[in-house]
Amino acid sequence: MTSANDDLKALVRTIPDFPKPGIQFRDLTTLLLDAGGFRATIERLVDSVETKVDLVAAIDARGFAIGGAMAEKMGAGLLLIRKDGKLPGATIAEDYALEYGTDRLAMHVDAIAAGSNVVLVDDLIATGGTARAAARLVARAGGHLVGARFIIDLPDLGGSAALRRVGVEAISLMEFP
Ligand code: PRP
Ligand code: HPA
Repeated sequence: MTSANDDLKALVRTIPDFPKPGIQFRDLTTLLLDAGGFRATIERLVDSVETKVDLVAAIDARGFAIGGAMAEKMGAGLLLIRKDGKLPGATIAEDYALEYGTDRLAMHVDAIAAGSNVVLVDDLIATGGTARAAARLVARAGGHLVGARFIIDLPDLGGSAALRRVGVEAISLMEFP
């Protein structure tokens, strides 16, 4: 069966055994290098957001490339959700689990005007730990999260299902096993 985004899926490169043996790494750099592929990716993600949003919240670092382009097209502001320790103003932070240990995302505490509509954007969702931490930050800062968008979902890792369980609409352009 062909699906709507098979043209874009064909531009994603799979690198075996990265970052460690047994992992099939879905490499989006090849999709981003293709001018037509990049443009179509952004257009399709923008078209998937049906609510008028005030802010696109993009996740450090690969999410910045996607979220920035989307925000410009949507006439929305761009909220950078950063790995902790990078932002100069007063921040709030949320921890999330990695395979070994934890990491922490942060945002400026005053970045969201109360009640603003926010869509969360990242390149890929795997376990969903990163996206769920970002969703908690948006909620704590007073934003109304209208959904989350990704180019790639790795559904076997459970992240998109976990986001939906906490009430976040999660849409991706393509899935890989
Ligand atoms: C990758 C990806 C997502 C996250 C997904 O980022 O860009 O942000 O992992 O994984 P999860 O759903 O299991 O949380 P990474 O932390 O590698 O950072 P980078 O964007 O700086 O490369
Ligand atoms: N590709 C890119 N980022 C990732 C992947 C992947 O396959 N798995 C977890 N983060």
